[in-house]
Amino acid sequence: MKRLLQRSPMYFTSVSLRVFFSGTSIVCFLTLLLGILIGLSLSTIGKETSKISSVSGIQKEYYKELTKKVDDIEEITALQRGDLFQKEKDQNQYESDNTVSRNLYKKVRLLCWILTAGVNHGKKAAHVKATWGQRCNIILFVSGKKDASLPSVAFPVPDEKGHLWGKSREAFKYIYDKYFDQADWFYKADDDTYAIPENMRYVLSRYNTTEPLYFGAKLKKPKVKNFFSGGSGYILSKEALRRFATISLNNKTICKIKGTEGIEEDVMMAKCLNNVGVKLMDSRDEKGRERFLPFQPSDHLVPGKISLDHWYWNNVYYKAKKGEGCCSDTLISLHHLRPEDMYVFDYLLYRVRIHGIYPPRFPEGWTAPPPPDEDGKELPWIGIKEETKKKSNV
Ligand SMILES: *[C@@H]1O[C@H](CO)[C@@H](O)[C@H](O)[C@H]1NC(C)=O
Ligand SMILES: *[C@@H]1O[C@H](CO)[C@@H](O)[C@H](O)[C@H]1NC(C)=O
Repeated sequence: MKRLLQRSPMYFTSVSLRVFFSGTSIVCFLTLLLGILIGLSLSTIGKETSKISSVSGIQKEYYKELTKKVDDIEEITALQRGDLFQKEKDQNQYESDNTVSRNLYKKVRLLCWILTAGVNHGKKAAHVKATWGQRCNIILFVSGKKDASLPSVAFPVPDEKGHLWGKSREAFKYIYDKYFDQADWFYKADDDTYAIPENMRYVLSRYNTTEPLYFGAKLKKPKVKNFFSGGSGYILSKEALRRFATISLNNKTICKIKGTEGIEEDVMMAKCLNNVGVKLMDSRDEKGRERFLPFQPSDHLVPGKISLDHWYWNNVYYKAKKGEGCCSDTLISLHHLRPEDMYVFDYLLYRVRIHGIYPPRFPEGWTAPPPPDEDGKELPWIGIKEETKKKSNV
């Protein structure tokens, strides 16, 4: 309530009026005026909260409103990707050949959508758009606020953190309705995620999108068997998306919606996908090194930066390695980045070449080797605490 009141323009007007009329002779007039203004402010707040409660009331009315909104949505699709390829080539002072990634771009079509909020459009989302976002075949920004300059897709879901699950749910449903035929894989990321679409395509080209698959950084929790970290993002196959949108979202037993505000979006997503037979794939490379990093690169690369009592060591699904061995050469994503870092990564990854070392690329048609747990049989790691206990007992 207080936050809404502060944001209300009426509130500011009443404050400035109070400063302006400081004489005591107009106290009565002021009281009257303030009364009117407060009344008006409250009616604005009333409208806001009724919007919110109709959203948590969910389902029929909500979807009706959604369909209405969907018509006036703007979006950016594939910003002259051909030109971007050329730009990368031109900018490079060395001979550079991106035929392989250009061919894969057509074969493994990737839709990326960024979960953001009104306050972050300029601060964060715009920088995703200016950097790695352009390398997706389609990029969408999903927010509680419509913004023609980004532009963003707005759903009638509040922008506050407790509603991430609501936003994700609606985004995937919307994407299923509008983009199902235009992409092969569907990647969700945050506005502080940096991703490398070329490496996603490389890894995904090993798999068939007609199968119900799902990729990301695998985590677990005491009461949750497995899920993919929302921050480093996760990728759904076409079949996974179809099952989510047409089966999960229509069945309360399979996928709970009511009363789930505040529950983590990534955990809910995994529950709703697990229940319709979507497989959470081992997304590490053939040496078991992580491709989706839930934290900044230095956190993973420098031993000791993630302290031993951090939740990560007990919630990571596969045994995590510290230091150099942590991370794959075919990295897919990083999280918790400052917007300016995105430009640094773009520069380092796409332009800097090291003299004497051939630009990295796998030959045309090369397939990513399988990860250690491709068939998903491996039991989760016991975690660092248990492992230390066991060792000291030996
Ligand atoms: C993917 O699987 C479908 C059937 O499930 C099959 O028709 C298609 O040829 C497969 N595609 C590839 C590239 O293997
Ligand atoms: C919802 O899913 C449950 C569990 O799979 C199933 O028993 C039930 O019939 C489904 N309900 C509808 C309406 O499809």
